[in-house]
Amino acid sequence: MQLEPLKTLAAKHSNRRILDLFETNGDRAQKFSASTGELLFDYSKTGVDDEIRSSLIRLCDEAELAERRDAMFAGEKINETEGRAVLHTALRNLDGGPVRVDGQDVMPGVLETLQRMRVFAEEVRGGTAKGAGGSFTDVVNIGIGGSDLGPVMATHALSPYHDGPQLHYVSNVDGAHIADTLRALDPTRTLVIVASKTFTTIETMTNARTARAWMVDGGGDPARQFAAVSSALDKTEVFGIPSKRVFGFADWVGGRYSVWGPVGLPVMIAVGSNAFDSFLRGGQAMDLHFQSAEWIENLPVMLALLGVWHRQVLGYTSRSVLPYDQRLLRLPAYFQQLEMESNGKSVAMDGSTLTIPSGPVVWGEPGTNGQHAFYQLIHQGTDTIPCEFMVAAEGHEPELAHHHRLLLANCLAQSEALMRGRTLDEARAQMMEKGLQGDELERQARHRVFSGNRPSTTLIYPKLTPFVLGQIIALYEHRVFVEGVLLGINSFDQWGVELGKDLATSLGPIVDGQVSADGKDSSTAELVAYALRHRD
Ligand code: F6P
Repeated sequence: MQLEPLKTLAAKHSNRRILDLFETNGDRAQKFSASTGELLFDYSKTGVDDEIRSSLIRLCDEAELAERRDAMFAGEKINETEGRAVLHTALRNLDGGPVRVDGQDVMPGVLETLQRMRVFAEEVRGGTAKGAGGSFTDVVNIGIGGSDLGPVMATHALSPYHDGPQLHYVSNVDGAHIADTLRALDPTRTLVIVASKTFTTIETMTNARTARAWMVDGGGDPARQFAAVSSALDKTEVFGIPSKRVFGFADWVGGRYSVWGPVGLPVMIAVGSNAFDSFLRGGQAMDLHFQSAEWIENLPVMLALLGVWHRQVLGYTSRSVLPYDQRLLRLPAYFQQLEMESNGKSVAMDGSTLTIPSGPVVWGEPGTNGQHAFYQLIHQGTDTIPCEFMVAAEGHEPELAHHHRLLLANCLAQSEALMRGRTLDEARAQMMEKGLQGDELERQARHRVFSGNRPSTTLIYPKLTPFVLGQIIALYEHRVFVEGVLLGINSFDQWGVELGKDLATSLGPIVDGQVSADGKDSSTAELVAYALRHRD
């Protein structure tokens, strides 16, 4: 990626303030925003001007983005290090045409599995599928990473549509997680879904075995009360789950992109198959937009280009996702996997070392809670952290519309405050009004200065419906894809998670006290010794 022209522009405008851009350009908000359907993405509160935007857009053509995008949708094996196609988009291609991998149309299989999911979900919801003690009151999804974060995030997001059994998620191998979850449940009326693409993940398999033992001990029937979601169908058989309750997906669906298919089964059970279809249609609408809109009008592309501007050009090391939507409380965690597992890499597709920064740290919390926690640093800390705000025009609780107005006002106030700041003179005037003078006024005023000029974007949508959620998730997926193409990396592998897994396996017997820690570094050996000393 040729960043020099952009770095030159950044240097040229290093003293320019975002607020000044609004003064010189009356229709800046219209010019520096993009929309699709009813989503509006406003990036006018960033330092980007016409010239910078044109240079950013040029990067897309230099990187042959259109060709790479089309290759992904066409089922080419763009995940080169694993020799796989990348086709999570096929899972939401509800009425699209054929999608071929190695010459085979994958759509009949996708639609057949989706139909089986619908039937099963409605049986569970309607009480025709039963456990040993009767219809299912609770569903426990056991999975981790992409087999957990997507459905957890979507379950919270769609809670107003939730009319199925109660949902629970167990991911951590920490026994506390499963113990606390199962404690209140009836082992004869709980459905357990084991979700694992590989069906080998140690956390998930350990939790699944514990859940099965709990069920058997409590009089439940695992043959009726377990379902599985996986790409490794042979392994689900070994675990003893009957094939009619196994929902498969192909290796061309990456874990962190898998919520659209069988991994979304718990969400479908919670909200029903119609609402889940609507979620898929939202994702599909974003696919069509990504494939057809000009770069300047293209939301995923503009979101990605702003990411590149802030991270690779200006060097900001993190970005904060700030949904002013309590039901999106798990969205930042979901985006962390989506973005950091995809683009946290330092080797380019061709094996060479990346010479520019990789993707940034992604973090966040819903507003307004974050305001009372970490916004201090965002406003006055020494680092600039681009903020990505999200907010709905209205909530799901008409009787609480006054809450929603406060939420919206807070969201807009934060982006305005970040941009505008407060000068020393303004701070002095404020202190003077409070009766301060002289040295004390000067000292107090300096603490109340906000540098401002801190960039943010805002995504606003009418209401958090299943369709809108689908649009938002697909928007960010494609944003990650575009950033990966511009960086020249493979966004679809995750080799960086392997080493820790290998070492955990080798440390198992050491931590059990069966094998000595000789050969380990002294820090690890001391920590093991401490744990062994303090164990009952
Ligand atoms: O540890 C990383 C990872 O491989 C993720 O990419 C994946 O989402 C997660 O583990 C869970 O994997 P699985 O679905 O195979 O259990």
